[in-house]
Amino acid sequence: MRHAIVFCIIIGLSVLSGCSKAQEQSNRNENLSTGKNVLIVYLSRTSNTKAIAQIIHKNAGGTMAALELETPYPENYQATVQQVADENATGFLPPLKTKIDSIEKYDVVFIGFPTWGMQLPPPMKSFLHQYDLSGKKVIPFNTNGGYGIGSSFQTVKELCPNSEVLDGFTVKGGSERDGILLAITGDKEKKAETEVIKWLRKIKILQ
Ligand SMILES: Cc1cc2nc3c(=O)[nH]c(=O)nc-3n(C[C@H](O)[C@H](O)[C@H](O)COP(=O)(O)O)c2cc1C
Repeated sequence: MRHAIVFCIIIGLSVLSGCSKAQEQSNRNENLSTGKNVLIVYLSRTSNTKAIAQIIHKNAGGTMAALELETPYPENYQATVQQVADENATGFLPPLKTKIDSIEKYDVVFIGFPTWGMQLPPPMKSFLHQYDLSGKKVIPFNTNGGYGIGSSFQTVKELCPNSEVLDGFTVKGGSERDGILLAITGDKEKKAETEVIKWLRKIKILQ
C-alpha cells in the first residue's frame, strides 16, 4: 500500500513538472517568434484601434502605450474634424502627454491609428517626429470608417526614413459621424483576431 502511494506521488510530480516544462517551452516559443522587444503605440478615440492593439499584444506580447495629448481634442465630433483639418493644413504637431521611456530598447514598434481626414492623425505625426525609430522595424496598423487608409501608411514611411517599415494591417472600425463608436467587439473582434494573426504570420512576427 505504501509503495502504491509513493508510486502515485512520483507519477503526479513528474506529470506536474512536465506541464511546467511545456509552459516554459511555449513562453520561449512566443519570445522566439520575434526574439525582439516589442512596443505597441496606438491612438484611439472610440477604442476600435485599441481593440486591434490588444489583439496584437495578446499574440505578440510587448509593451502597450496609448497616445494622449497635453490638450485633448473636443468631445464633439465635428469640432474635432475641423481642428484636425486645421492642424493638417498648418502642420501643427499637438504636444503629447504620453512619454515613452527608453525608446532605444525596442526593436519592433507597432504604431496604430484611425484614419482622420484620409491622413495620419496629427498626434501620430507628433509621435513620429518626437521619437527616433531609426534601425527599428516599424509596423503600422489602422482602423477606419470605411474609406481606407488614405495617405496614412505612406506618411509613416516618409516619417521613418531609416526604419524598416513592414506591410501594415487595416480593418473597418467605427463611424463616429454616423453614431457608431466601438464596432470591433463580439463576432467582429473574433474575425479581426483571425485576420491579425494571419497578417502577423505573413510579416513573420509570428511563426
Ligand atoms: C476626426 C475624425 C476624422 C475621421 N476621418 C475619417 C476618414 O477620413 N476616413 C475614414 O474612413 N474614417 C474616418 N474617421 C472614422 C475613424 O477612422 C473610425 O471610426 C475609426 O475606427 C476610429 O478609431 P478609434 O475607435 O480607434 O478612434 C474619422 C474619425 C474622426 C474622429
